Amino acid sequence: MGSQSYFKALIICLIALIGSTQAQLQLGFYAKSCPKAEQIILKYVVEHIHNAPSLAAALIRLHFHDCFVNGCDGSVLVDSTPGNQAEKDAIPNLTLRGFGFIEAIKRLVEAECPGVVSCADILALTARDSIHATGGPYWNVPTGRRDGFISRAADPLRSLPAPFHNLTTQLTLFGNVGLDANDLVLLVGAHTIGIAHCSSISTRLYNFTGKGDTDPTIDNGYAKNLKTFKCKNINDNSLIEMDPGSRDTFDLGYYKQVVKRRGLFQSDAELLTSPITRSIIASQLQSTQGFFAEFAKSMEKMGRINVKLGSEGEIRKHCARVNN
Ligand code: HEM
Repeated sequence: MGSQSYFKALIICLIALIGSTQAQLQLGFYAKSCPKAEQIILKYVVEHIHNAPSLAAALIRLHFHDCFVNGCDGSVLVDSTPGNQAEKDAIPNLTLRGFGFIEAIKRLVEAECPGVVSCADILALTARDSIHATGGPYWNVPTGRRDGFISRAADPLRSLPAPFHNLTTQLTLFGNVGLDANDLVLLVGAHTIGIAHCSSISTRLYNFTGKGDTDPTIDNGYAKNLKTFKCKNINDNSLIEMDPGSRDTFDLGYYKQVVKRRGLFQSDAELLTSPITRSIIASQLQSTQGFFAEFAKSMEKMGRINVKLGSEGEIRKHCARVNN
């Protein structure tokens, strides 16, 4: 290669390298372009979350359902249109909450710097700040995600784990987005907060094998209690706490329930079927601080799933609508 073409090639490589290092998530991505963005989000969360602390659970779930379907790109926030049924209207997403909270924050951030901060980043930061403001762990949220153009109702069913999934399926779905068994056990620890609908466990309680029976892996007394006081028949769709008595407290309650065979979902019970996942649970049960530290690592990892960067996607004006 002549020295001229050698230098040309070198320069092209350098440009590509600079381009690729720029297009990465980074802590404080908006420090110059919208320096108050993160403050605005935190302030809103701190001022409002105490009026409805159960929203912290809703918001972290929203972030999870966003990241697992087409990456963390705000696709879960988009409304359906006459020509397109969006993710929001897929069955696993019908019980999502917290959209209004995100939209309210987006309006404040847009007023400060129009067209700069993505809905995907607002969701990631809001989820973190609400969990932390209600006494849960803190994790780093590097920013720079861009919003996706695509939101299709068919995708969540393919990508999201369901409460009736066995461990193999759960591990496959987590593996599909670059997460492992450790991440699965850690992240599902978020079930220490929040609520579910009886419909998520009605088959488990009332018709497990199609013979009017109950899943034998659930603690007998607990199943009876649920059937007597909470989900009184197969069609009852009342709300139930996943970690009874401490649904707003981020603690080890979920793991304590699971080891007593009182996890609500079949997917929870499945975590006891392998020595690997069992031992991850056992090690979380050693210390809340340890759990928080590990949870933080897995959350940061989840927040990086298939993010759109640089010139990909767009910065939506409204989180519920792709720009024209
Ligand atoms: C195997 C993986 C998972 C399965 C099968 C699963 C399943 C579910 C189901 C069925 C519900 C209740 C829906 C309802 O009946 O209303 C729920 C709620 C919830 N999930 Fe998960 N989930 C999983 C992983 C995660 C992860 C990774 C997070 C967060 C990092 C999370 C956070 C939550 C929270 C906080 C709620 C309560 C939401 C609220 O109070 O509105 N889940 N999950």
